[in-house]
Amino acid sequence: MLSHLLQIDALHPEVELLKEAARILQQGKLVAFPTETVYGLGANALDENAVARIFEAKGRPTNNPVIVHVAEVAEAQRLVADWPETAARLTERFWPGPLTLVLPRRHRELLSVPDIVTAGGPTIAIRSPAHPVALELIRMAGFPIAAPSANRSSEISPTTAQHVLTSLGEGVDLILDGGSTPGGIESTVLDLTSDPPRLLRPGLITPGEIESTIGPIAISGNVGHDSEQHLPSPGMLSRHYAPRATLVIAEDPPVLVEQLLSQGKRVGVLDFLGMEARSGVKHICLSTHAKECAAQLYAALHQLDADAMDAIVVRYPPRGEEWDAIRDRLQRASCPAEEK
Ligand code: TXA
Ligand code: MG
Repeated sequence: MLSHLLQIDALHPEVELLKEAARILQQGKLVAFPTETVYGLGANALDENAVARIFEAKGRPTNNPVIVHVAEVAEAQRLVADWPETAARLTERFWPGPLTLVLPRRHRELLSVPDIVTAGGPTIAIRSPAHPVALELIRMAGFPIAAPSANRSSEISPTTAQHVLTSLGEGVDLILDGGSTPGGIESTVLDLTSDPPRLLRPGLITPGEIESTIGPIAISGNVGHDSEQHLPSPGMLSRHYAPRATLVIAEDPPVLVEQLLSQGKRVGVLDFLGMEARSGVKHICLSTHAKECAAQLYAALHQLDADAMDAIVVRYPPRGEEWDAIRDRLQRASCPAEEK
């Protein structure tokens, strides 16, 4: 085992391991850790140099702000200029959990985050992760943790410690291996600074769940992939979350699979139905339950990339808003590489 990958109990994380990880964070270094969505690449959110190392390790453009992770609502309140009633209601219902709130950032305070965290913008994205390792690590460190997904920029987010290692290698100082992350796709991002609040990234918490808590919200359109300005939520960049193989979403996968095979391509298939085994095709069956499917999706894409497929054919996901986040990630993953 590599010295910088430590196995940790996901439900009852060992205190000694948490202490070691917190010590590394306190030194301004990077720790990858599991959350209930995907693995995060963490640094002390109050330390400009530490956060700069995240951008370096990921190859992330500096106009893409990072999410700040907190253990308590009170910790979030210290980082913002305003805590609207909507934030109070949403955090009461969904925190800790996979909902990231964009709020006006607090300026000129001892405890405020440096500009690099927010990409110089006036808002800050905050969430409290529902994973014992993440929560205990934040508490042990004693400061909020800035953490984007622990992958090279524009690659698929990691749902296992091995994915982190493959993507970031020695670029991370410690990886806490808490097994597979249960959620499987990134948090829902909701902007509370606009009226009505605006969904910037669909995720495991659905618009219906949000609207039943705070009333109507707006759903964002896509932003241009070539935008060089401060991005409203750069997770909305067209090509994001992409495997190396070309990904195509198809109504009828078998027809396309035959075409690709006849061109001599190595083909992987993600389907919701069992398909007959066919030589030369690697077939992965996904759950027809949206939440279960989300938990499987990235691991399946990582697997097909590891198998060096040329093309991945995915059957169109079912209808219904619980599938929005999966459709969203598949659409982004299917954008042509030149749109990167
Ligand atoms: O589930 C998750 O959210 C994972 C885990 C590790 O917490 N994190 C994650 O981080 O997906 P990242 O950096 O890969 O995605 C963060 C998203 C990006 O789309 C980013 O643009 C957006 O949040 N974001 C961050 N700060 C923002 C801000 N101030 N305003 C608008 N969007 C923001
Ligand atoms: Mg990411």
